[in-house]
Amino acid sequence: MSAHATATSVEIGIRPLRSAPAAPGLGAEVTGVDLRAIDDATFAAIHRAWIDRQVLLFRGQTLTDPDLAAFSRRFGDLDMAPIQENGRAIGSGMPEIYVVSNVIENGVPIGSLGHGEAVWHTDMSYLSSPPKASMLYALEIPPAGGDTSFADMYAAFDALPDSLRERALGLKVKHDGTYNSGGFVRQGVTPTDDPREAPGMMHPLVCTHPESGRRMLYLGRRKMAWLEGFGLAESDALLDEIWTHATAKQLVWTHEWRVGDLVLWDNRCTMHRRDPFDATARRIMHRTQVKGAAPPAA
Ligand code: OGA
Ligand code: MN
Repeated sequence: MSAHATATSVEIGIRPLRSAPAAPGLGAEVTGVDLRAIDDATFAAIHRAWIDRQVLLFRGQTLTDPDLAAFSRRFGDLDMAPIQENGRAIGSGMPEIYVVSNVIENGVPIGSLGHGEAVWHTDMSYLSSPPKASMLYALEIPPAGGDTSFADMYAAFDALPDSLRERALGLKVKHDGTYNSGGFVRQGVTPTDDPREAPGMMHPLVCTHPESGRRMLYLGRRKMAWLEGFGLAESDALLDEIWTHATAKQLVWTHEWRVGDLVLWDNRCTMHRRDPFDATARRIMHRTQVKGAAPPAA
C-alpha cells in the first residue's frame, strides 16, 4: 500500500513492520516523509494508514516541540499533558507536551515514568474521553532496554474463545486513575486498595472503533481494574483470563528506538508497555495526545 504522488505531495511509502498469525495488521513504517512539512494529500495517506495499521513508525525526524505539536494538531485538538508524578505540570516549554524521562536535573526529574517497566496500558483511559491518538518522539535513548511494545486490541477481541467473547460483550470495566503506567501515584490521589472506591471511569469492555467500525477489547490497565457488578475475586479471575489472551505475544509488536523516531499509535485499539532500562542511562521522549471521545460500546 502506498500513496499516489500528486503534483504537490511527495510519494510516501507504507510498509508492514512484521507479520504474525494473530495480528498481521499491526504496525507499519512510513518512509519518505518529513513531518515538519506535509501537505493535505500526504496527511490523508498517513491518517488512512494510522486507522488501518494502528501504529505507525516514522524514522529520522528532526522535530522541535512546536513541530511535534503542529503535526499532532493535524489529527485534532490536543489534550494537555497529564501532571508529572513530581507535581510539575509542564516538563517542557509547552503544556501539550508530556515528557517521558528518567533524567534528573538539579535534583528534579524532568519527566515521568522513571527507568522501570511501564506496564501494559492505554493512555489516560481513566478519563471519560481518552485521547484517540498519542505520539512519542525519541530525543535521547539508552544504549539498551527501554523498548516499547504495542498490542492489537482488535486481534485481542478476536482471540477470545467464543464463550468468553460472548460474555465480554455488555460488561463494563473500571479504568483506575490512581496509578500511572510506571506504578507512580498520580498527583492529588490518595491510594486505596479497593478498585471500587478508587477514582476512575467505567468504559465498555468491548467497544466499536468509531472510525474503522471494528470491535475491540478496551482494557486500559490491569492494576485496580474492576468489572462492574462483580465481586472482587470474580472480577479479578475473569480479567486475568481476558488479559492473558489480550497480551499474548503473537498480538504484540516491539519497537527498538533510535533517536529521531516518532511512533504514532491509535490509543483506542492498542495498548502499549515499556521495558525497563539502566537507571544511569538517559532516555528523553516527548509525547503529545490528541483529544478523543468516549469509547462507544460494541
Ligand atoms: C507513553 C508511554 C512508554 C515509553 O508515552 O505514553 O507509555 O516507551 N511511554 O516511554
Ligand atoms: Mn503510555
